[in-house]
Amino acid sequence: MKLWGGRFTKATDKLVEEYTASISFDQQLWKEDIIGSLAHVAMLGKCGIIKEEEASAITEGLKKVAAVIEAGEAEFTISNEDVHMNIEKMLIEQIGPVGGKLHTGRSRNDQVALDMHLYLRARVVELIDLTVKVQEALLEQAKDNTDTILPGYTHLQRAQPVLFAHHLMAYYSMLQRDVERLMDSWKRINIFPLGAGALAGTTFPIDREYVAERLAFDAVYTNSMDAVSDRDFIIEFLSNASLLMAHLSRLCEEFILWMSNEFGFVELDDAFCTGSSIMPQKKNPDVAELVRGKTGRVYGNLMGMLTVLKGLPLAYNKDMQEDKEGMFDTVATLHGALSLFAPMIRTMKVRKEKMRQAVAEDFSNATDLADYLVNKGMPFRQAHEVVGKTVLYCIEWGKYLLDLTLEEYKQFSELFGDDIYAALDPQQVVNARNVLGGTAKNQVEKQIASAFDAVQQNQEWVQAHYKRIDVSLR
Ligand code: ARG
Repeated sequence: MKLWGGRFTKATDKLVEEYTASISFDQQLWKEDIIGSLAHVAMLGKCGIIKEEEASAITEGLKKVAAVIEAGEAEFTISNEDVHMNIEKMLIEQIGPVGGKLHTGRSRNDQVALDMHLYLRARVVELIDLTVKVQEALLEQAKDNTDTILPGYTHLQRAQPVLFAHHLMAYYSMLQRDVERLMDSWKRINIFPLGAGALAGTTFPIDREYVAERLAFDAVYTNSMDAVSDRDFIIEFLSNASLLMAHLSRLCEEFILWMSNEFGFVELDDAFCTGSSIMPQKKNPDVAELVRGKTGRVYGNLMGMLTVLKGLPLAYNKDMQEDKEGMFDTVATLHGALSLFAPMIRTMKVRKEKMRQAVAEDFSNATDLADYLVNKGMPFRQAHEVVGKTVLYCIEWGKYLLDLTLEEYKQFSELFGDDIYAALDPQQVVNARNVLGGTAKNQVEKQIASAFDAVQQNQEWVQAHYKRIDVSLR
């Protein structure tokens, strides 16, 4: 017998039952569902909507159901459709018909919304926590590499030398924006929908603020139709997740390139690579490749959810049941990627010598040669031309800029002097970019120092929010 069976004269078609049920995936919301119900029933008792003894019986029953599920002994069934009705059925089995009073003043529409808000706010804190751990790993590597110089690239062509620390700190900065976005989204996730009923509110004298406060919500939805129809907070999460994955994916691409023989700039630890079943010499950066690949499904989940919501009239529609799998999948995908990233970065070996050699064998100091002439009074545009010719000459003769004699330099401009060699030294080239945000060592050290402060603030936010949301089954 269905919980909603009264109006029906026939059993549900088996295929319909299977097609419409969400229990196979929404059972992972069981804890949120029971936590929400415990707060709801406490309010029903307090407001005199049901008797206090009834409220206590339901409370005890819900805790027993929780224990059964926790122990892995619960049997969720498709005929009970979703997590809400499965749990209500189990409650009634535990304590009898009084369990049927739990759903007073509530609908599955506001109930599922509550579960999703409870679920996502906790997952977002965990994901921020994991992202901060990646930031820390980047910072540690950056700290160890404030003297490591490698070519910086544009168009994947060697452009100007940079500190490896500077390169890594660019990724730190991307992740800091991700962290800030996720933190900001939290206030839109942490809004309380219960009390909206099916769509219009309820006839019972409920106390929404009481339940909201008990469950540590920041705010209460002020429009019942919005409360049950809002999935913006999920889309916002999927969007933030997509951008975070984009950043991880870009870093993956760098790792993959740097790991190749052609670059040889880093070596990812054996524990974070895999081999080939046929080619014995292979050591592949599979983790980085998979994270790059899994970015696709996260973007897909965002597109999917945007499309589900597009054109849905108010209020609840069954389409909205489609909000869950993409969200769960995104949480799991991010969780996996972020958990692997921190140790993968920490254990990565930086081939400083290879990087240095790459800088010695390129023209990435050509801009500095032009700047040198500018400092001697030549207009930049003319200096650009002179250096262009000098580089061409080098290429013809198989030399680099530091190999040219002063005599050879003088063919291109009388302004060249002895001090040219010092100006072209890679260390000097890097340290000359001593502007705010530039790659000079003291600028990068400043970036790192303020990043350590920001990371500490991030950690404090995470700890404070773990505490806030600790409304575990007590
Ligand atoms: N399983 C449903 C979902 O995930 C719960 C809400 C069902 N509400 C309804 N009126 N059928 O969206």
